[in-house]
Amino acid sequence: MHILIKNISHYVGQEITLKGWLYNKRSSGKIAFLEVRDGTGFIQTVAVKDNVSEQIWQDIEKTTQESSLEVTGIVSKHPKKENVYELQITSYELLQQAVDYPIALKDHGPEFLMDNRHLWLRSKRQWAILRIRDMVEMAINEYLHTENFIRTDSPIFTPNACEGTTTLFPVPYFDLGEAYLSQSGQLYIEAAIASVGRCYDFGPVFRAEKSMTKRHLTEFWMMDAEGAFVGHDENLRIQEGLVKAIIKKCLENCTQEFEILERNPEPLKKVLEKSFTRYTYEDAIKKLHELGSDIQYGEDLGNDDEGLLTKDSDVPVFIEKWPKSIKPFYMKIDATNPDRVLNDDLIAIENGGEIIGGSQREDNFDLLLERIREEKLPEKDYEWYTDLRKYGSVPHSGFGIGVERMVRWISQAEHIRECIPFPRLVNRLKP
Ligand code: 4AD
Ligand code: MG
Repeated sequence: MHILIKNISHYVGQEITLKGWLYNKRSSGKIAFLEVRDGTGFIQTVAVKDNVSEQIWQDIEKTTQESSLEVTGIVSKHPKKENVYELQITSYELLQQAVDYPIALKDHGPEFLMDNRHLWLRSKRQWAILRIRDMVEMAINEYLHTENFIRTDSPIFTPNACEGTTTLFPVPYFDLGEAYLSQSGQLYIEAAIASVGRCYDFGPVFRAEKSMTKRHLTEFWMMDAEGAFVGHDENLRIQEGLVKAIIKKCLENCTQEFEILERNPEPLKKVLEKSFTRYTYEDAIKKLHELGSDIQYGEDLGNDDEGLLTKDSDVPVFIEKWPKSIKPFYMKIDATNPDRVLNDDLIAIENGGEIIGGSQREDNFDLLLERIREEKLPEKDYEWYTDLRKYGSVPHSGFGIGVERMVRWISQAEHIRECIPFPRLVNRLKP
């Protein structure tokens, strides 16, 4: 009977079959320990030369790292370790021998590993991160539905910019001239809320930004959420609820992954206990000056500033109400101070950096048009967007969360390239 390693505890004392790959092998010549993985987990299988046929022993000897195999045996509990199981091999088949697998279980340099990303994904560490990513995505979908958001995906080919015109990837588009790869689906879901009230999209977005940091990809996954009749404070409440739901789900389901990554879950548990801190942009700048930063009022926060602001915090920090001069055209002006907008960036703890950007949107037709003109954006291209302010305009807000930023924080990966199966960076397009 073929079973999955994740279900092994139900089969103690029984003979079962596993199908997978060899992760690691130790052999004394008389007894062989084969660590097998099948995608759902890892298990030690054991063959004693005297107890198996000559053919089986030879096949086991021939089995190299990452060879595919089918192994049958009796499930037993590990003599010393809790919740660990082993398989005493009775039958064995080498499906395909992997000759000279390039990645050994020792340390390799990042460029070598990135060149071999198609194989590197099989390592325990990458397996753990892939699974955390899946859990993050599942938590996002679940939480948004509990908050009455429905999924309405946005296009990738777009005629105009969402987040500034300097970071667009152009694509030749038949007789229609140039299209751009989407930077965020926000503008489209702003249209969809007038149909369904609250909605979100979830997909790849693109930024032609020459940022070579540990937090920037040129292609990354974003979930944009948007809600009609959602004001600034409600927007922040939803964001905090989302981040907590993601963390809760990972804490519940990723114990093994955290162990593999040596990620201490305690700081994540603490995040669930308190409300997130809120600073206005102005207060954040004052606080940064106290902490020794030389940031000027009106500048964007750098990595170091984000680190300083969160270093003594148990919870992520919202920075709200930024100067309108450094934020996109669609953000709503703060009625109490026309130089500021009703927006927020959410900064993670543990050097996670910015994980969410959100705002209330300008819902007044004239003010929005004024902003489009100020930014010298092509007015004609945004006519469909300004239409939304002509036909039943309502106050509304939304935000976007970067999936890889979230995965990076939760898994404590040093570099964001590990947080997406096939990273696209300024200097990396392969494999
Ligand atoms: O702050 P951003 O640029 O916001 C928007 O695009 C809005 N239109 C979202 C909205 O309101 N619907 O991007 C949102 C998030 C950031 O907070 C960050 O987590 C992530 O996307 N992000 C990146 N992740 C990886 N690589 C990059 N180059 C990223 N740029 C932004
Ligand atoms: Mg941002």
